[in-house]
Amino acid sequence: MQQELQQLWEDAEQELAQVAEPKALEIFRIKYLGKKGAVAGLFARMGGLSAEERPAFGQAVNDLRARLEEALALRKQAVAEQSESALPTGYDPSLPGYKPWFGRRHVLSSVLQEIVEIFRGMGFSVAEGPEVELDYFNFQALNFPDDHPSRDLQDTFYIEKDVLLRTHTSPVQIRYMEKHPPPVRIVVPGRVYRNEAIDASHAAEFHQVEGLYVDEGVTMGDLTVTLRHFAKEFFGSGTELRFRPHFFPFTEPSAEADMTCFACAGSGCRICGNTGWIEIMGAGMVHPNVFKSAGYDPEKVTGFAFGMGIERIAMLRHGIKDIRLFLENDLRFLSQF
Ligand code: PHE
Repeated sequence: MQQELQQLWEDAEQELAQVAEPKALEIFRIKYLGKKGAVAGLFARMGGLSAEERPAFGQAVNDLRARLEEALALRKQAVAEQSESALPTGYDPSLPGYKPWFGRRHVLSSVLQEIVEIFRGMGFSVAEGPEVELDYFNFQALNFPDDHPSRDLQDTFYIEKDVLLRTHTSPVQIRYMEKHPPPVRIVVPGRVYRNEAIDASHAAEFHQVEGLYVDEGVTMGDLTVTLRHFAKEFFGSGTELRFRPHFFPFTEPSAEADMTCFACAGSGCRICGNTGWIEIMGAGMVHPNVFKSAGYDPEKVTGFAFGMGIERIAMLRHGIKDIRLFLENDLRFLSQF
């Protein structure tokens, strides 16, 4: 008899050690301590025992019940603590682990950060402006004529008559100068929007970094030196820049900057269309009318501005062939950087 009780205890103990969740605890309780459980079954057998056997047996079963109850209570506590520490049930510490998934910076963010760091090193600080912009800042104050083609619905996303999604980061030039007296030395990263037919090299939303440097006596020479330094830092010390005359309403003179082709180092190849040069940004000397809109005196200060597309710079840097990849969030693409 004693042996039977001992066996039952050992079985129960072993079983309890496997129990790891509240449901299993309840199943265990019903099996051993429930109304039709093992302990109840033992008590039921008392009737068949002799008067001498009965007290000792009763005592032993009572003991067993007390031990089971205590063990169950302890286990309950342990299970509760375990679920608090959020260990998954059925956790097996001997299994090989999962490789943790590391997030990383988006390739555009790291390219942007590198660009900003280079200009920070030359004393520029970072400014920002809104993506939903007034026609005034995006066009008017930047000396765009009323009938300028980029004001067309085909190029610009309008929200209302005078409210639009900014088509470039240049409006921040005005916003910044309105609030800060010269000198100014800022770079302005941000998202811009154009109503483009989307293909491998055109997206309807992309990013730019604007630059603005205003002080007394700033010259075109300052512009070229600054941008050449940037190009060498970012693309490598062998990189040269050339400036082609261009037109922007808000700069005069205006230029487009080309850099020596990274693929052929200037000798001519398919990537640069055999010219040896690749266009990387627009730039120019701030137009006097822009200073006037912002409340600066063009007789006192001069300045230069530039704007580059971050996607374009990232594509050149990493040999990315399709601008749409930046927006698709495909981890096979993103995890390469
Ligand atoms: N805002 C111009 C563009 O989006 C770029 C630019 C900025 C040109 C500053 C000159 C000066 O094309």
